[in-house]
Amino acid sequence: MENLNTNIKESIWGLDTLVRLDNGDLRPAINLDNAATTPPFKQVMAEIDSQMRMYGSIGRGKGQKSAHTTDIYVDAREAIKDFVGADERYTVFYCANTTDGINKLASALIRSKVDMVLSTRMEHHANDLPWRARARVVYAEVDPEGRLKIDDIERQLRRYRGLIKYVTITAASNATGYINEVHHIAKIVHRYGAKIIVDGAQIAAHREFSMLGCAPDESIDFFIFSAHKMYAPYGGGAVIGLKEELNKHIPAFYGGGMVEAVFDNRVCYAQAPDSYEAGSPNFPGLVSMVSAAKTLKEIGFEYITNHEQELMHRAIEGLRQIPDVTLYGDNDYTDDRVGIILFNVHGILSADTADYLAGKHAIAVRHGAFCAHPYIRRLTREAERPGCTPPSGMVRVSFGIYNTIEDVDALLAAVKALTEETIPVSLGAYSKKRQGEQKNGHTRPYDRG
Ligand code: ALA
Repeated sequence: MENLNTNIKESIWGLDTLVRLDNGDLRPAINLDNAATTPPFKQVMAEIDSQMRMYGSIGRGKGQKSAHTTDIYVDAREAIKDFVGADERYTVFYCANTTDGINKLASALIRSKVDMVLSTRMEHHANDLPWRARARVVYAEVDPEGRLKIDDIERQLRRYRGLIKYVTITAASNATGYINEVHHIAKIVHRYGAKIIVDGAQIAAHREFSMLGCAPDESIDFFIFSAHKMYAPYGGGAVIGLKEELNKHIPAFYGGGMVEAVFDNRVCYAQAPDSYEAGSPNFPGLVSMVSAAKTLKEIGFEYITNHEQELMHRAIEGLRQIPDVTLYGDNDYTDDRVGIILFNVHGILSADTADYLAGKHAIAVRHGAFCAHPYIRRLTREAERPGCTPPSGMVRVSFGIYNTIEDVDALLAAVKALTEETIPVSLGAYSKKRQGEQKNGHTRPYDRG
């Protein structure tokens, strides 16, 4: 879509909103924290505005608005299937986000702590803790640069042959951006009679994804993603899964909409996907998700990949030129990464760097351990600390389709200025000073793991 591509910034809502710097000046914010969440597409906002004029209850009424809303809700499943190349064997159930989707799936698939799941040390907590809470989990390791050791997946499958029922793995790391070859891994997983679950949170807005591989045994069995990371922040998300598998289970979420009939002492549950959707569905969530999926396809994943690679290369090259900057992961070969970069400035806590970039330059990044503590410890080679202290972590820059070379250059200039600062930026001093100066208290020491 030529027009959209040359004008991507114009397609994003809120980029011209000014934010206040620590010195009181107003500036448009530069968002380099797209792996956490993205701003909405204007098309998404317009679609919400239009559809909400015909909003009614879904599947629970005969009114015209209810009928309209129900039609959109049913059709949206096909649009989502189309977005991820799913054929008739699959169905879609809606969820609030990837965490919610994985928890629902885990609550259905896992029967007891005896069930074994193979996960990896690269995962976001969302694709680790829901399994730890319900099953016996073993892990595949990462190498010193943070790439997944595929051999380790096979080693674990061989070691626990017949016992591992599910292998759950991210399509792309939220910390390093490494993309895993999930179709190749699916082939290995299926050879050992297990099913593969793919966390798609960081891939959905960055690469074309298909449930199908080049051969039947390369298909993905379950795939989960969040809409708020794909320019549709209304609490939408989806789990795409094999209907036959989903129908063998019921998630631990009960209520209206998931049953055929309820008797005094027994219940007839509905088939998937209804059995996975107790309660009234989130209509704005699914409308915005479908609208964003269509917009991403119109823009084209080839364009998105090339654009994000270009930004990433420039940022990596620039950061390398700044003395005192340490980059993490493999920054020589980046073709297998979505646009994410991890770095630290020598002697400065990641929280202070992030605070400085926001307070002085209106640049938003994420810092810390990115809800992936075991992975971050491996990248920084940091030992586990006693008590409940998380890893100290690093600064994360993550690109969206609307970021520009100017955004990258602003980041590089700001990081360079930080390394030349004479103010006491180290050891938490900057963050504390900044928080103390915030009169309205909107900057709180609130970093969620
Ligand atoms: N999962 C999101 C991130 O990586 C919140 O930042």
